[in-house]
Amino acid sequence: MNRQPHVAVVGATGAVGIEMIRTLEKRNFPASKLTLLASARSVGKRLKFRGQDVEVKELKKDSFKGIDLALFSAGGSISREYAPLAAKDGCVVVDNSSAFRMDEAVPLVVPEINGADVKRHRGIIANPNCTTAITLMALYPLHQAFNCLRIFASSYQAVSGTGAKAILELERQVDQIVKGQAVTREVYPHQIAFNVLPHVDSFLPTGYTKEEMKMENEGRKIMHHPGFRASVTCVRVPVYRAHSVAVSAEFQKPVTVEAALAALKKAPGLDVIDDPAKCEYPLPLYQAEKYNCAVGRIRKDCAMDNGLCFWVAGDQLLKGAALNAVQIAEELLK
Ligand code: A2P
Repeated sequence: MNRQPHVAVVGATGAVGIEMIRTLEKRNFPASKLTLLASARSVGKRLKFRGQDVEVKELKKDSFKGIDLALFSAGGSISREYAPLAAKDGCVVVDNSSAFRMDEAVPLVVPEINGADVKRHRGIIANPNCTTAITLMALYPLHQAFNCLRIFASSYQAVSGTGAKAILELERQVDQIVKGQAVTREVYPHQIAFNVLPHVDSFLPTGYTKEEMKMENEGRKIMHHPGFRASVTCVRVPVYRAHSVAVSAEFQKPVTVEAALAALKKAPGLDVIDDPAKCEYPLPLYQAEKYNCAVGRIRKDCAMDNGLCFWVAGDQLLKGAALNAVQIAEELLK
């Protein structure tokens, strides 16, 4: 890979795409040039990068000639169609969609956990599901210390995870309610303002959603832990930004809160915020725009042996998407 790559962001105008541009700039990623790609609707829009206006171009089959690295976040069908074309043109793709995550030939990477896996790539590297990535930032250090057998978890997922349109839907519904107007819906099947929806992604015949099964499937691949089991309920909440997850984890080895805290305090990319007596625990409101995830409410699980409960929160547009993608790109340049 060119040490000063020509970088493209696919889906540059979306909630994650915008954060990818900001993250490349903030982390001083050594891009020699930035190309911004989106649909025909966005052609001519200008976005700032390092003080310069960059014009958005339409994504086309031949968009990747001369591009070294492409960060994709325009949805699964765009990735399925264009990522292989980009790879064929010699570009390395970091893909934020679920299209290739479980493909054996595609590394699925959280740099703090399995950064070395990027070396196996054949043109495409997958960025994990946001809720999975945030959960694993706290679970993996505990797994290393005590060997995790399984988890039971519930997520509290922000609307920005659905995309820019969902942020506007929450804003609009809050405004309609405050003004006493009828609430209108476009994105979610029910009102999201002042409500919670136990429904993220589509339902499978088992009754779980696809999103819920990503924790087990992607968790196994990222942690190199084929026996890992996860029973998850994913819930959309009226929070603009940052996902939270309540986790009960069962381990093979005996656990103590002290040993768990020691493992978590050493973990990269993770802050421990855990002083319940002072009302201190991770909150999505304060995790928004932060690179690190945060863990708290760490306690022995009273309903199982060798169990720990914890609460982890993180900005899903950053660690769950844009930051992790840029970290993967940094790993490629090492
Ligand atoms: P556009 O703004 O031109 O529609 P979000 O997840 O926030 O909804 O963003 C989705 C991103 O994917 C946007 O940048 C969007 O561009 C882009 N996108 C959606 N459909 C296409 C398409 N057919 N071709 C290229 N980019 C697309």
